[in-house]
Amino acid sequence: MTTLSLTINGQKHGPMDVRDDLSMNDFLREMLGMTGTKFGCGAAQCLSCAIIVDDPDGTSSTSPTCVAPAVNFDGKSIRTVEGHAKDGELSILQKAFINHFAFQCGYCTAGFLNEGQVLLERLARAPVPREALEQTIADALDGHLCRCTGYIKYHEAVRDVILADSNRYLIAAK
Ligand code: FES
Ligand code: FES
Repeated sequence: MTTLSLTINGQKHGPMDVRDDLSMNDFLREMLGMTGTKFGCGAAQCLSCAIIVDDPDGTSSTSPTCVAPAVNFDGKSIRTVEGHAKDGELSILQKAFINHFAFQCGYCTAGFLNEGQVLLERLARAPVPREALEQTIADALDGHLCRCTGYIKYHEAVRDVILADSNRYLIAAK
């Protein structure tokens, strides 16, 4: 057993004792009842289980939860799909996913949403030229598998959000 404390979607959890071999996915789903994080391949291959990890320097990245022990997240600040909506209002990215009918069964959606959010925040810190945008989105979403093959719609939804606020996410053309 190890004592675990962490922040999830801005809320502190713990300290609580967890088994050393308990996966982060089971911790979220079974111990906390946060079932928005899915379990797909169970082998760090599909990223349906990915959550956001916020680093102290203000940067963020996604991390799979299926093979990672929960104790690896001790002291960390993470975000899950449950944290995107605020005061009952879906995020801009969530709305874009709906507007594009980006998901079908929805199993991969939380992972794509978290990855898209990380990309938006990265571009807000470091905008890219418009001509680099398609590849930037493709690179960011690469690795997320969708069994229903919704890749293009996810890509288009993320692109729409970026283009709708291009002063924020893109370097202005000269
Ligand atoms: S379930 Fe974690 S990467 Fe597939
Ligand atoms: S929408 Fe079904 S797996 Fe992606």
